[in-house]
Amino acid sequence: MTADVFQQTYGFTPEGVWAAPGRVNLIGEHTDYNDGFVLPFAIHQTTTAAVARRDDGLLRLHSSADPDGAVVELRVADLVPGGTDGWAAYPAGVVWALLDAGHPVTGADIHYDSTIPIAAGLSSSHALEVVTTLALSDLFGLDLPLWQLARLCQRAENVFVGAPTGIMDQTASACCVEGHALHLDTRDLSQRQIPLDLAAHGLRLLVFDTRVKHAHSEGGYGDRRRGCERAAAVLGVTALRDVPFGELDQALDRLRAEDAEDAEGAQEAHDAQDAQRSQGTAGELTGLVRHIVTENHRVEQVVARLEAGDPRAIGPLLTAGHASLRDDFKVSCPELDLVVDTANAAGALGARMTGGGFGGSAIVLTDERTADHVTEAVLTAFATKSLTAPRVFTATPGAGARRLA
Ligand code: GLA
Repeated sequence: MTADVFQQTYGFTPEGVWAAPGRVNLIGEHTDYNDGFVLPFAIHQTTTAAVARRDDGLLRLHSSADPDGAVVELRVADLVPGGTDGWAAYPAGVVWALLDAGHPVTGADIHYDSTIPIAAGLSSSHALEVVTTLALSDLFGLDLPLWQLARLCQRAENVFVGAPTGIMDQTASACCVEGHALHLDTRDLSQRQIPLDLAAHGLRLLVFDTRVKHAHSEGGYGDRRRGCERAAAVLGVTALRDVPFGELDQALDRLRAEDAEDAEGAQEAHDAQDAQRSQGTAGELTGLVRHIVTENHRVEQVVARLEAGDPRAIGPLLTAGHASLRDDFKVSCPELDLVVDTANAAGALGARMTGGGFGGSAIVLTDERTADHVTEAVLTAFATKSLTAPRVFTATPGAGARRLA
């Protein structure tokens, strides 16, 4: 299919076809830019790319998802951060990152197909980065290890696209293994594959894409990231991962004390405005720190329960994670809360938003036999509020990026 459209678009056959999946994050949200822990798994929805090398410095990109249907033509030598618009910025960004890292990429023709819903918080853009990098790494004989390939994708996204995201999604798309969730330490990138077979326990994980658009190059994500970095600096640690769960209360007291001092200093200087500003900020910092520290702890608890063969027991941890993202980290939205609250009231075992938030998708863990009832309840709740019906599917852990042909 993807190879056929390549042939129709460019008039010759591609050298190969590659695939990279989207992901669902089971738990560990916003921890990846705090050197913490995450537990995503690859979904079966993928982005495929049919690719052929060029040696004349041209990069030609075509996607079935582009309503214009036009071929985007770029010169690799002209690629500069911020210089490419729309979806093409992701593949152009990885070509830029490869060149910037000294890899000789002399151009390519690429056609993309994707079954990953766009802007649903399921990492369609990361799959686009990963599939492109894997194909170019294979074709140009770069032999990049998958973790390094993920790092290059992150650099493309941070510097070229301008979205300050962490390393979770690219690593999930590149490194996940079918039937497993990936326990990733985002500080040293060490990985552990955790078996995840919910069906064997009579369970299901439903994904509800609320269709509320999220975007990470916009303000909210970057604000949280800067807030976390500020809190780490105030607490004198490299990253919030270094605040142990058992020392959370002391850390929060310290933030409050720093804040009181700041406010006092500002008042002494008769600068009431400054005092107010700093008070507001400290309240926010305690919420950010509480979320990150408790979320890292929840990841470890979820892993322990999965490894003990008790996946039912992760339900309350998922719901607790959602409450923390909603109340402390403040990245949920009414539609995500509606999925979680309705699903839990209808008998789900637990539910939470997944991904960066501000829209996108929520996951719901249910017993197989209550899945339809829970789905109906959520769809009815959305219809009652005249909200666009969410897209619903069952997620099972699929394979990471690979060559198909
Ligand atoms: C987005 C980012 C990730 C991660 C999540 C939140 O998906 O791309 O790096 O920060 O948000 O966990």
